[in-house]
Amino acid sequence: MQIILLGTAAGGGFPQWNCWCPSCRVARCEPGRALARTQSSAAVTADGQRWFLLNASPDVREQLARLPVEPPKGPRHVPVAGVVATDAELDHTLGIVLLREGRRLQLYLTCAVRQVLERDSSILPVTRAFADVEVVELPPQGGPVSLTYPDGAASGLSVETFPVPAGPPRFASEELAGHTVGLVLRDRATGGSCAFVPGCGGLDDGLLARLDAVDLVLFDGTFWTDDELIRLGIGDRTARQMDHLPVSGPGGSLEQLAALRTPRRVYTHINNTNPMLVEDSPERAQVVGRGLVVGMDGMRFDV
Ligand code: MLT
Ligand code: MN
Ligand code: ZN
Repeated sequence: MQIILLGTAAGGGFPQWNCWCPSCRVARCEPGRALARTQSSAAVTADGQRWFLLNASPDVREQLARLPVEPPKGPRHVPVAGVVATDAELDHTLGIVLLREGRRLQLYLTCAVRQVLERDSSILPVTRAFADVEVVELPPQGGPVSLTYPDGAASGLSVETFPVPAGPPRFASEELAGHTVGLVLRDRATGGSCAFVPGCGGLDDGLLARLDAVDLVLFDGTFWTDDELIRLGIGDRTARQMDHLPVSGPGGSLEQLAALRTPRRVYTHINNTNPMLVEDSPERAQVVGRGLVVGMDGMRFDV
């Protein structure tokens, strides 16, 4: 299984259009010291040609251009075999509407995510006006569910879901189990596995055991500190209140992920305010020093 990080920034991207926080300032004024990033999404494939997107970001058009695709014979070619969503947040689902030209779209969603896309953000009804949308339901916890190609053939990849601490999007009209899940992707042929957890409000022993048992962890790197937005004067909620466990400090994700045996541990969904985005920052050095990686758009992994 091959995995490409299509986008590694949190909602808003990096730099964010209206932001002049210290790291966005570096990204604009000294771009070599803080590389621009698109919004959080990844793509997985078993055959190198047909890809499953893990979340569909508002930057999906630009991101799909990164996929290595053999020039097709016909005038149209859809390299996306399906989209698997971890939640219904806008940065993870607006791209679904933008894939409407594909004419046919296979979505793997929990019932809770489906309800929000159906009734609250109207992403499903709007997409359906342009394309056939087929929803494969994911359990809030469990699986494996096989990922299939649009012609019904098995891809050899499967997905398992598990709950992570996080509330529903703020525009959700109802709170149901499965609003936010983590994913484990598995390749039946190679036995390789990857955990994809772009949003996570906390880690407990059960979650850590799950992350310890895969070959690659892609994890929520939204905020460096709990009070990051408050200190910068651009928000009034803590990272934890926003359901993102901060990277640094006691109980932070860096300390906990550094203790795992997982060979590759990579941060993604990194907010533009996070100082670890700056290449020569002490925060970046701390992450690298503990054996973790600050994800970058275009990074590829084979598992
Ligand atoms: C999040 O990651 O917490 C959400 O995407 C927030 C947002 O979309 O504003
Ligand atoms: Mn987000
Ligand atoms: Zn910023």
